Amino acid sequence: MSRDVAEAVPDRSAIPVDPWTLGSFLDTPAPRAEAGVGLGVWRMEIADFGDDEHDVGAAWLDDAERDQASAYVRAELRRAYVLAHAAARLVVGTATDTPPEKVVWGRHDCPGCGEPHGRPRAEGAGLEFSLSHTPGQVLIGIADVAVGVDVERHPEDPVALANLLHPRETSEIQAAANGTLDGGRATVRFTRAWSRTEAYLKGIGIGLGRDPHLDYLGTDDAAGRVIGGWSVRDVIVPEGYGAAVAVLG
Ligand SMILES: CC(C)(COP(=O)(O)OP(=O)(O)OC[C@H]1O[C@@H](n2cnc3c(N)ncnc32)[C@H](O)[C@@H]1OP(=O)(O)O)[C@@H](O)C(=O)NCCC(=O)NCCS
Repeated sequence: MSRDVAEAVPDRSAIPVDPWTLGSFLDTPAPRAEAGVGLGVWRMEIADFGDDEHDVGAAWLDDAERDQASAYVRAELRRAYVLAHAAARLVVGTATDTPPEKVVWGRHDCPGCGEPHGRPRAEGAGLEFSLSHTPGQVLIGIADVAVGVDVERHPEDPVALANLLHPRETSEIQAAANGTLDGGRATVRFTRAWSRTEAYLKGIGIGLGRDPHLDYLGTDDAAGRVIGGWSVRDVIVPEGYGAAVAVLG
């Protein structure tokens, strides 16, 4: 085993995070704003947001976000991007008493190369946030420490993708697919391990610049793990998806 490999210790006392639901941009009963936010996780169901909602949120984006949105060829990915950025602006803006269109979007430096493509940041906001979007779902996390979130759709063929993960996670997914490991379908196990790993790497800010082979976050149903000073917890999302949040400390 390489010295680089990190092992997450299961936290059996942890329970999955049940996110707050962000239901609308129109009649904005805004997400809860709290002083000293600790950790807040919001989920939005893309199907709940019609074209009117989309247009309200799209108007909050800055020029760079509009350019980025228009670079998506697939309409469902473009829509997920726009709604995720609008939601993040609303959540961060509410927590900092700033209108969503006035949130100044930036990026932390990448811990790998020092260039400004690490975690997203809101200039002057004094809080950390992370976002994840996939067709169907958006997840936003805000915290007063570094945070990473990830939501993923179940893959059609988890075994084909399993070797992207840590070798022990690969074995667990293969064993579940072969029926030699109880305690969760291969698909669910893949999505657990992937979303935990990606939340952790997004929290660090390196993203997939660090090989997902290197860290064992597990495919089992332990809702929480501790790795290298980070606490990683599963997030409750609808059937067909998996999600996790990683918080420093
Ligand atoms: C971050 C990353 C894991 C996202 O993967 P994904 O599953 O496609 O997308 P998600 O929806 O879950 O997350 C996307 C969001 O993560 C955030 N993000 C991007 N890079 C990030 C990073 N390094 N750290 C933390 N968050 C990051 C952004 O807010 C992004 O949203 P946006 O594209 O709408 O602005 C992936 O894009 C990545 O790792 N990129 C960097 C890879 C790399 O090689 N970097 C160079 C290191 S020197």
